[in-house]
Amino acid sequence: MDVNRATELALPVMSTDRMTSGVADGELSGDTTSQERYHAWRSRQKFPAEYLLPHIMRQIQRRNPPAFMQQVRGHLGLSMPELQNKVRELNPWLLPFHMRGDFDTMDTRSAQTAEKASRIQFRSDLIVGTAIELLGGDVAETDVLDIGCNDGFFSLDVAHRGVRHVDGFDLRPTNIAKARFLATHYGIGNVDFSVADVDDFEHEHQWDVVLNLGVLYHVVNPLQFMRQTYELCRRFAIIDTIVHSEPISAYVLFGDKNVDLPAEGREDWELHPTYRGAIDTIRYAGFSEVYEILGDADPPHELYARGNRRCFLAIR
Ligand SMILES: C[S@@+](CC[C@H](N)C(=O)[O-])C[C@H]1O[C@@H](n2cnc3c(N)ncnc32)[C@H](O)[C@@H]1O
Repeated sequence: MDVNRATELALPVMSTDRMTSGVADGELSGDTTSQERYHAWRSRQKFPAEYLLPHIMRQIQRRNPPAFMQQVRGHLGLSMPELQNKVRELNPWLLPFHMRGDFDTMDTRSAQTAEKASRIQFRSDLIVGTAIELLGGDVAETDVLDIGCNDGFFSLDVAHRGVRHVDGFDLRPTNIAKARFLATHYGIGNVDFSVADVDDFEHEHQWDVVLNLGVLYHVVNPLQFMRQTYELCRRFAIIDTIVHSEPISAYVLFGDKNVDLPAEGREDWELHPTYRGAIDTIRYAGFSEVYEILGDADPPHELYARGNRRCFLAIR
């Protein structure tokens, strides 16, 4: 409402300092972001990570580089400068994909890249390693859907481990261009990538396994999104998400996200579930059993070790 107009109507307009919300001075002023206000409040609370589900404990084996990166088939005809040009055209990269010789999509000598490599190797074993183990003898008859596949890391990883077919889709054409380039580079043929928004992804088809990794906190309707995951899935889904540790079933609303970045959502606002909120969302969707997949690793992955990122197995 326009304040001048309200004043004209003689409504009682109170200044923010009259509000008693328990926040420190200035925290509700218009020049801080929702994230800054949340973190200021959160820094004064102690909420230890909760563990409320039956869990699978996985002894994490990091493979450096992951097995699918160890083969190069599709771009053997290219000279090194030609390959480097193609990789440069697809910049920016979020992960170090091994290309050829000592050439990777990112500079692996930097500590930051080494950390990214270590984290994705952890997630590869936690998520794809567990899925393959659960599938056992059914791997070769399994179709997988990877929602919000980004550059295709998980699609390529699971495809290379012998499932029948993988479909990956993502909002951003630039991400899908990378995923297709990588599939060709590594000669992985049992995967298709397409550009789509989850909100428009309507399908009669079901996939045996649905990977819902790092997307729950990007969509504007998380309940509907989880119901969609359930409906697209024939056997089980793996849901990997940021969670907040307040011991209530809730979502925290954050603004000011930069949607020009390749890993963000469509909107510059996003809803982050609490741990209990994520579990309740999965149950709401209809899944009959929910487990947590925990990884025992040295070194640990900081986010999972602190309980700020969780991986759930949801059985249809
Ligand atoms: C944080 S990244 C996660 C990438 C990968 N799945 C992983 O776990 O590492 C989120 C990805 O979801 C995609 N995404 C976000 N909102 C989407 C939407 N509404 N429809 C399709 N993809 C979306 C983004 O483009 C981005 O690639």
